[in-house]
Amino acid sequence: MTIKTNVPALEIELKDLANLFGQHNEIEIDHQESKNTTILHDKFVVENNGQEKVFEFSYQLDPNLSDLEQKSLRKKMLKNHLYQMLNKELKMSLPWGSLTGIRPTKLVRDMIEKGQIKEYLAAEALEKMFFVSEPKAKLVANILKNQKCIIRNDNLIDIYVNIPICPTRCVYCSFISHKLSALGDEKVEKYLDCLEKELAAVKQIIADKAYIVRTIYVGGGTPSVLSESQLERLLKMLTFSVDEFTVECGRADTITEEKLDILKKFGVTRLSINPQTFCQATLKRIGRPVSTAQVLKAYSMALEKGFVVNMDMIAGLPQEKFATFKKSLATLLELYPHNITIHTLSLKRAADLKWQSESLSDKDVEKMVDYSYKVLSENGYKPYYLYRQKNQLKGLENVGYFRDEHVCIFNIDSMEETNTIIGIGAGAMSKRVFNIERRIERQHNHKFIEDYCQNIDKIIEEKKNFYK
Ligand SMILES: C[S@@+](CC[C@H](N)C(=O)[O-])C[C@H]1O[C@@H](n2cnc3c(N)ncnc32)[C@H](O)[C@@H]1O
Ligand code: SF4
Repeated sequence: MTIKTNVPALEIELKDLANLFGQHNEIEIDHQESKNTTILHDKFVVENNGQEKVFEFSYQLDPNLSDLEQKSLRKKMLKNHLYQMLNKELKMSLPWGSLTGIRPTKLVRDMIEKGQIKEYLAAEALEKMFFVSEPKAKLVANILKNQKCIIRNDNLIDIYVNIPICPTRCVYCSFISHKLSALGDEKVEKYLDCLEKELAAVKQIIADKAYIVRTIYVGGGTPSVLSESQLERLLKMLTFSVDEFTVECGRADTITEEKLDILKKFGVTRLSINPQTFCQATLKRIGRPVSTAQVLKAYSMALEKGFVVNMDMIAGLPQEKFATFKKSLATLLELYPHNITIHTLSLKRAADLKWQSESLSDKDVEKMVDYSYKVLSENGYKPYYLYRQKNQLKGLENVGYFRDEHVCIFNIDSMEETNTIIGIGAGAMSKRVFNIERRIERQHNHKFIEDYCQNIDKIIEEKKNFYK
C-alpha cells in the first residue's frame, strides 16, 4: 500500500501511524506544499492492490491560535483523518487509535490542566478525540489517579546517572550499552573519573540554583556490573539526601551480597532485578544467560536487606507462546515484588526483521498485555506510569505497576515531564522544566562512553550554560 500526502512537515508521524496498521506496508509521502494560508486543503492518496482512492478534506485556520497551537491542531486532525481512512480501508482498529506519541498520560494531563477536559471525563475524551480503545482509555484515566505524588515545583529536581555497561548484550535490547569485556577495566575507571568531574559541576549548579533533589536514579545498562569498589566509588559521589534512590541491578548474575550492602550503606532504597521471562529456553535464545535460581537468590537477598524491588518482564519475546508468558507472570506474582513493569517487545528495525517472523502474532501479544493488566489488578497491583516506544508490537505500551504505596516517583516525573532532571553520564538526557510557562528544554550528553570521556570538559561547560 502506498500513501501520498501534501503535508511534509508531519511526514514522520503520519508514517509512524500508517506503519502501525501493518509493518510490511510500503509508505511513500509525496511533498506538495499547500499554497492557501487561511483555508487548508489536505489530501491523502491511498494505493492498495492497484486501486487508488483519494481522501480530501479542508479546514479554516483559527486566527486566535498561535503557530504552535495551529500546528498541533492540524497534526491531530490529519492523524485522525489518516486513522479513520486506514481503519475503513483495512477494516482494522488500533488499541491506541490515532495516537503515536510516547506519553499518552502526559497528553491527557496537559488537557486537564489547561481546562480542555474534565478529569472524570478523561477516558471518554481519549475515545472520542483519538479513537483510543475503551480499555486503553480507562487505563490512562486510572494511571492519572495513581500519580498523586507529582509536585510541580521548578526547584524540586531529580538526578539520573547513566551506566551504559552490561555483562553481555541481550539480542532484543534497544538501548545503547557497552559490553564490559569490550570496554575493559581501564575505561570503566576513566568513565568514573569523568562522572566525578561532571557531578562536581552538577553540585555547583544545584547550589547556585537552590535546587532540592527529590530522587536519584542510577540506570543503564546494568550499573550492578560494576565491581564492589567501583560501585562504592560511584555511590560516594551521590551524597544527596533524597526521598527515593533507585539503582538498576537488572541482571541478577551481577548481584552479590557485598554489593547490596554497599548500596544499602549509601542510602539506596529501590532496586530493579529483571527476569524478563522465567523460561530458560527463551533466555538462551535472547542471549541472557541468567538462571531463575540466580534471580530468586538475588531477590531474596534484596528483600532481606529491606529494598523496594521492581521486576521487568517483556511480552512478545521470540517464540514465546501466551502460555509461557502466563506461567512467567504467575511466577512473578508468587515473588510479589513491590513494582512490576510489563514491556511490550520493541523491534529494532532492519536488524530485527527476522525476529518479526519469529515473534508471535500481534493478537497474541495483545492478549499477553491485556492479561497482565487483568491478573496484576486482581492481585492488588495498580498501574502508575505508562510509555510507548517506537516499533513496539501493535503499537502497544510499557506499563509500570505498584502495590501498596510503592510508586517510583522518578518514573512518574520522567514520563510526565513535570520536573527538571539533571542527567549525568554517557547517553544521559537533561531536561529543564519551566512549569509556569509550560516549557521544556532538553540537552543530550554524548551517547558513547569514549566520546563522552573525550568531550567531558565541553559537556560540563554546556551543562553549566543549560542550567544558567
Ligand atoms: C534500559 S533497560 C535496563 C534494564 C537492565 N539492563 C536489564 O536488562 O535488566 C530497561 C528495560 O527495558 C526493557 N527493554 C529493553 N529492550 C527492549 C525491547 N527491545 N523491547 C521491549 N523492552 C525492552 C527491558 O525489560 C529492560 O529491563
Ligand atoms: S542487560 Fe539490559 S541494557 Fe543490557 S543489553 Fe540486556 S536489556 Fe539491554
